[in-house]
Amino acid sequence: MVLVSGSGTNLQALLDAATPSFGAVIVAVGADRDGIEGLARAERAGVPTFVERVADHAGRDEWDEALAGKIAAYKPDLVVSAGFMKILGRRVLDSFPVVNTHPALLPSFPGAHAVRDALAYGVRVTGCTVHLVDTGVDTGPVIAQEAVPVREGDDEETLHERIKTVERRLLVEVVGRMAREGWTVSGRRVRLGRA
Ligand code: GAR
Repeated sequence: MVLVSGSGTNLQALLDAATPSFGAVIVAVGADRDGIEGLARAERAGVPTFVERVADHAGRDEWDEALAGKIAAYKPDLVVSAGFMKILGRRVLDSFPVVNTHPALLPSFPGAHAVRDALAYGVRVTGCTVHLVDTGVDTGPVIAQEAVPVREGDDEETLHERIKTVERRLLVEVVGRMAREGWTVSGRRVRLGRA
């Protein structure tokens, strides 16, 4: 199961990778808003979709409860947050393991504007992080990271595109390994493979 909020190129990489040998199928794609390319990608691939909007609920807790219900209907072994721009609540996080992909080398530059923040800081190297999601903002245990250089003249768009090229490959690699080999968590260490 994959959650998206936007263009869904990471989702597309997962859809393209999900052949029988990959070890996982994408059972559904969920979003927090309508009319996004991420949902269109899922529809074109014949994958069921749903939308759960925060604005349709009395508050975040009610939204979290409804989202957890929608996810549960598909009985996923793993939920992948791939450009999902909402903080997940306890009901979802207590019910399913959730992996997120983030366009920076955490713990640097958490939050919704990681690429902009890294550029503004002036770092020469940034990257992407695939991590387990906990109740904080981009604070869960790191599974994998890869560095990406910042080039002279980069703007947010050029740098983000360079990161996303690496990010899509890393996410596919990590999700595939989690599906095929499992994982264990010990404190902040995540180990891919059988225990
Ligand atoms: C990705 O770079 C992802 O890491 C980022 O949004 C982009 C989504 O791209 N997520 C965040 O910034 C979450 N804090 P996509 O919709 O093309 O996959």
